[in-house]
Amino acid sequence: MTQHQTTVLLGAQWGDEGKGRVTDLMAEEADVIVRFSGGHNAGHSIHVGLEKFALHLIPSGILHPEKRNVLASGMVISPEALLKEMDALEARGLSMGRLYVSARAHVIMPYHALLDRLEEERQGAEQIGTTLKGIGPAYTDKVARRGLRMIDMLYEDVLKKRLDGGLAYTNKILQGVYGAPPVDVDEMIAYLQPLVRRLAPYITDTEALLHARYRAGDRILFEGAQGTLLDLDVGTYPFVTSSYPSAGGVCLGSGLGPSQIDAVIGVAKAYITRVGGGPFPTEQDNAIGERLRSLGHEYGVTTGRARRCGWMDLPLLRFAAQVNGLTGLVITKLDVLSGMQTIGLCTHYLLDGERLELPPPCIEQWDRLEPVYEEIPGWEEDLSAVRRFADLPEAAKDYLHRIEQSVGIPISLVSVGPERAQAFRL
Ligand code: GDP
Ligand code: IMO
Ligand code: MG
Repeated sequence: MTQHQTTVLLGAQWGDEGKGRVTDLMAEEADVIVRFSGGHNAGHSIHVGLEKFALHLIPSGILHPEKRNVLASGMVISPEALLKEMDALEARGLSMGRLYVSARAHVIMPYHALLDRLEEERQGAEQIGTTLKGIGPAYTDKVARRGLRMIDMLYEDVLKKRLDGGLAYTNKILQGVYGAPPVDVDEMIAYLQPLVRRLAPYITDTEALLHARYRAGDRILFEGAQGTLLDLDVGTYPFVTSSYPSAGGVCLGSGLGPSQIDAVIGVAKAYITRVGGGPFPTEQDNAIGERLRSLGHEYGVTTGRARRCGWMDLPLLRFAAQVNGLTGLVITKLDVLSGMQTIGLCTHYLLDGERLELPPPCIEQWDRLEPVYEEIPGWEEDLSAVRRFADLPEAAKDYLHRIEQSVGIPISLVSVGPERAQAFRL
């Protein structure tokens, strides 16, 4: 799909844009596929014939046996979740022989998941609606410099030192803030031992590996997780994840430099969804939203939660184009819009009467944003069998052109169903 040596593919909305299935397609033309941020909060589903795969930590390139797949240093990795995923894929005949796990990535421990849940419960109605996988607490430990890295687990004395140091703090929080029992260091070491034994052969200096593959001329595809609006810095803070799913996170999370990134592709649905709390200007909490949810099967891959659904939000897409330096767009799930008499396309917002082309930084203002819609004529035709842009109904072509024009980025690929064949280039 691209003649570039390195391509980043990331979510341009609030996640679940179809990054996994697009990565699976683009992996055909890559040698190495890299996850650079997040953890098993991600859920990437891929359909291959009658088979369905749900990946959480392992890059979607794993379905192509000859490719290298890398979990890079910007990730937070639960050894237990990773081994479970590896076992499930191996049981289905996939090889883990070319899987590499960063020595520098941070470890998610059971007490991170516990802290995630306790903190959500403490927040009550104000909660973020996290995936409860321990992502936030693991990144918190990393930033506070009391985290545990994958490499630390390989040396008993280092592991004990890190856990002693980290848990001295964490146990005070567990007991003092949440009234929960403390975690025992030796119990945690015993918990990790069998996991480490199995994971050790995969733990690698992935920075060195990626530079070697880059110098050898390999094509590298970075598979984003989450989405731009969930980014810790540019997302809808505080309703965000704790990592950097945006393009900046690729360099931080993999060790390649900005000058080594050739193309950045943003994936967006033909509408938009969000899971969990937080502002959502174009949300359709009505029959339209229900229709999108039911036709688009908008239920989380990781948590099973119903996704909130709404119309395509161009100010957010423009923003994603800017902060990621997008060079191309992929639009997924165009088929889901078939049968709508008109399609709402949010072109800009009004904030206290003032026109905004981009979202404001103050999250409290988002509740007062009035999305302004262009009513685009819909189409009746089922798109699932369309394989060429030329065969789309005129109204669908117009809709895509309108998005392209308004964002100023070319659409390079459109999908009309979850199957590998249900996508075409423009
Ligand atoms: P990701 O997290 O960005 O990889 O996306 P998810 O896998 O969480 O959610 C996308 C869902 O939409 C998955 O169930 C896909 O199988 C499905 N999907 C992807 N592309 C299309 C498409 O073009 N049409 C339809 N109908 N479904 C799609
Ligand atoms: P993929 O890769 C959609 C959301 C959660 C919550 C917020 C913080 O499948 O697109 P966290 O557990 O990360 O601390 O939760 O972020 N979230 C996602 N939403 N898709 C994802 O991943 C997500 N990963 C996290 O719902 O609102
Ligand atoms: Mg998902």
